[in-house]
Amino acid sequence: MSIEREQVFVWSRKVRVFHWVNVIAITLLIFIGLVILNGKLFGVSTDGKILLKTIHVIVGYVFAINLLFRLLIGFIGKGYERWSKILPFKQGFSQALLEFKQHKKTAYKGHNPAGKLMVLALFLLMSTQFVSGLVIAGTDIYYPPFGDYFAESIAIDKNNVADIKPYSKENVDEAAYQQMRAIRKPFITAHVYAFYSLLFLIPLHIFGVIIAERREKTALVSAMLTGYKYLPKHDSK
Ligand code: HEM
Repeated sequence: MSIEREQVFVWSRKVRVFHWVNVIAITLLIFIGLVILNGKLFGVSTDGKILLKTIHVIVGYVFAINLLFRLLIGFIGKGYERWSKILPFKQGFSQALLEFKQHKKTAYKGHNPAGKLMVLALFLLMSTQFVSGLVIAGTDIYYPPFGDYFAESIAIDKNNVADIKPYSKENVDEAAYQQMRAIRKPFITAHVYAFYSLLFLIPLHIFGVIIAERREKTALVSAMLTGYKYLPKHDSK
């Protein structure tokens, strides 16, 4: 028996643009990140490493600005842009998750309960990458927003901070440099662990979307392009 469906607008242009810019940026960051992590295996020279890190940081800025924009509209936006609509913190979430597991509901206007958990995990990991990435950019290649601060903190001659270059010891105070590396350590650990977690969760997210598409039949993949889902009449919230 075919179910009568109606076209319902869910994902605003802002959310859709964020999503696909995010997909492109993260794909590039993962690809470059993997080459940086396996530099020795690929025979990357020091100059090559600096170039890869510079490109990684520039793409990282696009990722960071896009994420910042999405985090902000979660607070000031409308409808399904808002955190209250997309995160699993609303009263009754455990009940909704149980009903989801028991296949009681056929479709969801926003994310289904499993989708809400995934979205929370993705945003937490991406925010970790955002913060740790900006700190590492400062300690590794002395790029903004913290690059000037870190370069100055390790300079012997504070009037010639511009002499400090990535992977060079010119004008670098060794003790201050080691101190800066110690500050960097927890951030790089977080960056690498969040990176591997994203490598695991992204395919799971895509797998979940495909399962939901087959189960709910609301055209949710094209909804991330057009904004519209096809929901059974009187059966979705
Ligand atoms: C780098 C890879 C990806 C990342 C990091 C990612 C991340 C996200 C995030 C954060 C959201 C929540 C959007 C929001 O509320 O602002 C989301 C939703 C969604 N994503 Fe992705 N995504 C990725 C790849 C994909 C791909 C390849 C597809 C298509 C097959 C896809 C389809 C969707 C759909 C359909 C939703 C809405 C799900 C729903 O209706 O519950 N994503 N994604």
